[in-house]
Amino acid sequence: MQLQTIRHGKSLKGKRVLLRIDANVPVKKGEVLEGSFGKVARAAVDIEWLCQHGAKVIILSHLGRPGGRRISAYSLAPIAKRLESLLHLPVPLSRDIVGSKAQRMAENLEDGQMIMLENLRFEKGEEENQKSFAIALSRLGELYINDAFADCHRAHASIDAITEELPSYAGPLLVQEVRLLDQIRKKPSTPFVLVLGGKKMETKIPLLQHFLPLAEVVLLGGALAHPFLFAKGFSIGSSLYDPHEVPLAKKFLKEFAHKLILPLDVGVTKSLRSRSKMRIISLADIQKNDVIVDIGTKTLDLYRSFFQKAKTIVWNGPFGYCERADFCSGTHMLAKAIATRTGKAKTIIGGGDTLPSIESAGVANQFTLLSTGGGAMLAFLSGETLPGIEALQKN
Ligand code: 3PG
Repeated sequence: MQLQTIRHGKSLKGKRVLLRIDANVPVKKGEVLEGSFGKVARAAVDIEWLCQHGAKVIILSHLGRPGGRRISAYSLAPIAKRLESLLHLPVPLSRDIVGSKAQRMAENLEDGQMIMLENLRFEKGEEENQKSFAIALSRLGELYINDAFADCHRAHASIDAITEELPSYAGPLLVQEVRLLDQIRKKPSTPFVLVLGGKKMETKIPLLQHFLPLAEVVLLGGALAHPFLFAKGFSIGSSLYDPHEVPLAKKFLKEFAHKLILPLDVGVTKSLRSRSKMRIISLADIQKNDVIVDIGTKTLDLYRSFFQKAKTIVWNGPFGYCERADFCSGTHMLAKAIATRTGKAKTIIGGGDTLPSIESAGVANQFTLLSTGGGAMLAFLSGETLPGIEALQKN
């Protein structure tokens, strides 16, 4: 896949560069909750490179889904603060996203300096992919770089429409992700093992449809496994599941019974509250008021045996209720098991909910690719055309 990139820094000196990053990360009480492999930390590497080459950087991002309204909980102030501490440089936040004040801040930048614009989704024009909003944004800069692979499945103004207004390039992080994921989606080295957890089955259906015929096996865990367990006649107690998903789970199981691998044992608890304890039990022993919150050791051993032979392993979605650290040990052990295969297999991990678990397992630097994309990675691997990538190819 061909994407136009900025190959060397010479052309950047003194240029106002609009840089779209994905800084959509968890924020609690004004603090960004991510480690050194998080999305902001990784964007900072490319921001630093641009500054070192004399660019005047105008950083664009969104946070959450404020729906076109200015909601202070979604301000990018904590992101600007995190960038300052990573880069040891000032990152002033422009409360105005477009217009004369933002223009003045952009024009007053010296070479190697930067500003960040407030959350783009405070403006309706962003999600509506409005040309007028893209034009107003484009006035702030002279060229545009998209380094936000995680947002390329969104036809939003700062991802799509803007590419018609400015010379547009793919950023280094985006290029790295697209190059590797493109190889995987076209021709993964086999045996190919897909590992899917998390909650939202609807976001994983296209991926299952695309890869079930190609994959050696698909290993399921997390709440995603619940409709499949239910469809196979197991009790899932009081665990989270959507009854509407059961017929589809049945259909997948009928067609690909030998490929869809389900947990053998699980961690269950009586409640998600902080004092409740977890016990590992076989599926047959799940009781009415048990809630599944993790996978068990037999499941891990079984899943590990598939990793031994795999040449490609793709994983998205935690295998437990990782909001509580003591319900995340199966996910941590899974991360470690996949990490040990890197080199012998291509190991690709992605998903906003998966990344924090990988970081807390201490193995974030041990994969072929730690994708910043959640929905974008799933859509790209399923063979969908992403508006953000298409826009870069056209313009
Ligand atoms: C992500 O975190 O996956 C991206 O920022 C996309 O966020 P969205 O689903 O709110 O568009």
